[in-house]
This record gives sequence, C-alpha cells and structure tokens, in this order.
Amino acid sequence: MKRIFSAALLIVLAVAFAGCKADYSAPETREFSAPIMGWSSWNHFHTEISEDVIVGQADALLSLGLADAGYVYVNIDDGFTDGRGEDGRIRIDTTKFPNGMKAVADSIHARGLKAGMYSDAGDNTCASRDVKPYGLNVGLYGHELEDCKMMFDEWGYDFFKVDNCGGRHLDLNEKEQFTKIAEALAACDNKNINFNVCRWVFPGTWVIDIADSWRTTHDIWVNWDQLKTIIKENMYLVAYTGGGHYNDMDMLEIGMGFKPEEERTHMACWCIQSSPLVVGCDLNNMPDYSIEFLKNEDLIAMDQDRLGIAAPVVQREGEVYVMAKDMERYYGPKRAVVVANLGDETASIDVSLEALGFKGKVNVYDCFAHSEVTDLAIGDHFTLNVPAHDSYAFFVTGKRIERTRYQGEEAFLNAYTEINDQDYPVYRRPYDIPSPRYWESPSADLGLYATLVGGWEDNWLEWRNVYSFKGGEYVLTFNLACADERDMTVSVNGELVDKFEAITTGGDLDWKELSVKVKLNKGWNVVRLENPAAPMPSIDYMSVKIFK
Ligand code: GLA
Repeated sequence: MKRIFSAALLIVLAVAFAGCKADYSAPETREFSAPIMGWSSWNHFHTEISEDVIVGQADALLSLGLADAGYVYVNIDDGFTDGRGEDGRIRIDTTKFPNGMKAVADSIHARGLKAGMYSDAGDNTCASRDVKPYGLNVGLYGHELEDCKMMFDEWGYDFFKVDNCGGRHLDLNEKEQFTKIAEALAACDNKNINFNVCRWVFPGTWVIDIADSWRTTHDIWVNWDQLKTIIKENMYLVAYTGGGHYNDMDMLEIGMGFKPEEERTHMACWCIQSSPLVVGCDLNNMPDYSIEFLKNEDLIAMDQDRLGIAAPVVQREGEVYVMAKDMERYYGPKRAVVVANLGDETASIDVSLEALGFKGKVNVYDCFAHSEVTDLAIGDHFTLNVPAHDSYAFFVTGKRIERTRYQGEEAFLNAYTEINDQDYPVYRRPYDIPSPRYWESPSADLGLYATLVGGWEDNWLEWRNVYSFKGGEYVLTFNLACADERDMTVSVNGELVDKFEAITTGGDLDWKELSVKVKLNKGWNVVRLENPAAPMPSIDYMSVKIFK
C-alpha cells in the first residue's frame, strides 16, 4: 500500500511516455517489493484458530528455519470474530483469543515476524456461510475506515487479505468497493500494509493500481486437477504481475498430502510466476520432504527475484509446458526455467535453447539437486524426460538472443476481467461476456491466442516488454484471424505507425500474417494494437525481426 503514492507518480510519467495507464516499459526504474512469504491459518485450521494456534505456528516458522528462509508473515484468516457490537466495533471471539487481537500481533512482532489480518469487502466473511455465525456482520462494508484504523493503527497488523463472500451476496461493484478499502488503508497512519484482494478470479486491471497481490482462482485444495487448473490459469495472466504487484496463486498446499512430484510442480510453478508463498499446512505436522521443498533456496530466489516478473510459456508439447523468465537483470545472462509435465504420463521434450532465449553454450543448474547438470547433451536443445505431474526447475545461463516472438496470451489486455465468469478457466470461456479473452485452440501457436479485443475505448492489447538490443528498423508481423472485415491500428511507443483496414483471413481460426515496418528504441518498447470502434482480429502472436 505504501506504493500507491510512488506508483501514482510513475503512472503519470508513464502516461506521458507511452500513453498507457501503468508503466511496464521500464521495469528497472520501479520501486521493488517482493511477493510476501509466510503462513496462513485457513487451509489447515479453517475457523478452528486461537491465540495458542497462531503463536504456536509462529514459533514453528522460527524453529523449522522457515522464517530464516523468508517466511515471515503469520496471517490470521477467517474465524476470529464474534459479530459486531452496538458501538460498531468488531467483537473478538474471546474463547479463542482471550487477550484480543493486538496481543496476538504483539506476540508475532516480538518474534521478529509480521502479522496478517483478514476481512471481507461486504458485510459478512466467507465463514458465515457454513460455520456458526462467526463471520456475520463483521465485513468492511460501511465500516471501511474504522475497521482499517483498528486493525492497522490500533492493533498494528502488517498484511490485509480482503475476501468477497459478503461483497458477492450484496452484489457490490468490486472495483468501487475494493478501491474504497484501499483508500481507507491509505488513510491509516500505518504505511506498511500489504493489501491482498481475494476475489477468486482476475478481477480487472484496476486491481494492479490498488493492491499488492490478488487471487486469480478459486480456493486450492489437495486435488491434482485443481492444482493444474490454477497453474494453467496463471500461465496466461503473466502480463498483470509486475512492478511489485502479483497474481496470487493461493496458499501453498505443500505438506498437506500431495505426492512429492506434485509438490515439486506446485513449488516450482508458484516460484516461476512470482506468486506470494504462503504456507497453508499445520507446520508442526508435515513430511520432511515438504519442509525441504519450502526451504529450497534456489526456488525462493526465483520467486523473490528483484525483477518480480511472471514467466510466460515459451514452448509447449502437449501437456508439458516450458516457462522462462529473466532473473536479476533484464536480458542478463541468467534465466529461470521450469518444465512442468501437467499430463498423466511420463513425457519427453526437446527444450529449445532459442525458445529459452539463448544461443551457443549454456550452463544448466538444477534447482532441486542444487548442482550443475552435467549429463545433458546440449546442442540447440536438450532432451528431458519428465514424469507425470513432475517438474524440473533450472537456472540457465549463457549468451542471450533478442526475443523474436511475443504471444497474444502474454499480452496486457487493458479491459481484461474474469468477473461474472468465474466458473470458466481462462482457456475455455463463453463468448457472451464483455471482456477480451485468452482463448485455447490447437490452431494457435502454443495453443492460445487473444481475442474479443476492440469495440470500446479501453479495450486494447499491449506488449509492454518488447526489447531491442540496439534499436533500429524492425518488421513486426502479426498472426491474425477474423472471418469478417476488421480494422486495427498499430502504435509503437505511443505513436501510430499503421492502420490495417478491412482485414479478413477467411475464418475465425484461419491465421494469416500481416507485417509492418517500424522503428524500435534501444531497450524497451511498447506495441499497442487497438480499435475503439469495433472488434479487432484475434491475435495469435507478434514476431519482431530486425529489418534487413
Ligand atoms: C474464501 C477464501 C479462502 C479463505 C476463506 C475463509 O474461501 O478464498 O482463502 O479466506 O474464504 O472463509
């Protein structure tokens, strides 16, 4: 939350620079804050929490070495309240928290840790649905400022997760209500409140300006299909993580019953996407291998990396996905790579060095074995056999090449929202929702494309991370499809460079390439495709090649 103000300044600069809402074009200039790491009470304890449970888990973070590894937030989730008094103040369940909530925050702080709070955007919290009347009338709606001041100034908490069960039942406008809560937090004296929006889907690009992180899916539980859905959903939301603001893939279910190979995939995918790492299990009761996965310092470094970016899919063979992102420095020699087999059979994949962004000799370091991999025959690719549900995580270092392909499914869709659409994962959405979409089709490169862009002013597509080593003349080629005649403008760094008129490719999934010659700056460039008046063609990818 402290970043609302510095972010506002950067937004003003960005508008001047690129004509867009937030600055993703010069990421290294932004103030950085890593995704949070810690523990939360919900997934194991649900509403069966108490001061003893919370402080006991804080002690376990310390004794297991998890706090030293970075897990410092102790987040109290739903279940500490007992209605609201006539004076308007939330009542605490004193059978569970006899000393009140400030005492718990004080105990957590006395251990050198940070304390997290929970509420709801509406009147009730989610626990009011099925567990006693715990959560009735304790949500923020109508009490935004008093509740925030009590929790953050009076009690001194450091993190705030705000759910939406009460908001949904009151049918509140999420953007307005969560913005009001962000304003109440900004009005607190405590300027170090980390704010998490829990709306169970990607709520809309407005959330990036008000929150530090936001949930993107329904709740996680120990179920492979649910884990896979969360991983796949977040692979295609990478444009929205950045600048110290993160897609939150939900709590880690590590230590709660997944198989070791599934926990490897779980941890590796959360880390390559820079998700918050918030452990959900009973810390005093988990397998040793789970503790090792949670403490894996290489994966933690991948998650907490100062660039704070999420990794797009750069190669895919069936259910094997290769994700890659820069670490430490943009276009520096080191990249994080995860190869995840989400399928139910062992699969072999030839991982292409070009797709990873390298040429020539590379070093491959295995983040689970914590050593260099010496037995890979590496030419322009290396072959991996990945068991079902398992993953490899690597640091690859070598000579970088300029990126030549940017996928539609990693583009920033300014009007993108999944609200009203929460039963549909990203890759199978119905057409009747007024939002652009990332859509799945085997006809598209890597299996996805962006569609339903255009038709109103805010509904444009942008690649904000187009990078040129030297700057100069380039050819941008768009792989497009549309059955009827459609128009689309291309702008580079805020300047209109071309207007494609009456494009038609013959069918909704008949892809054709259209090119335009442009000048790119050295370093970062923003390419925007737009048509405020009518729908644009669907976009599979953009290739970016030096003009020869
Ligand atoms: C929702 C959230 C969970 C948890 C519960 C508490 O389901 O998504 O993470 O906070 O509410 O009731």
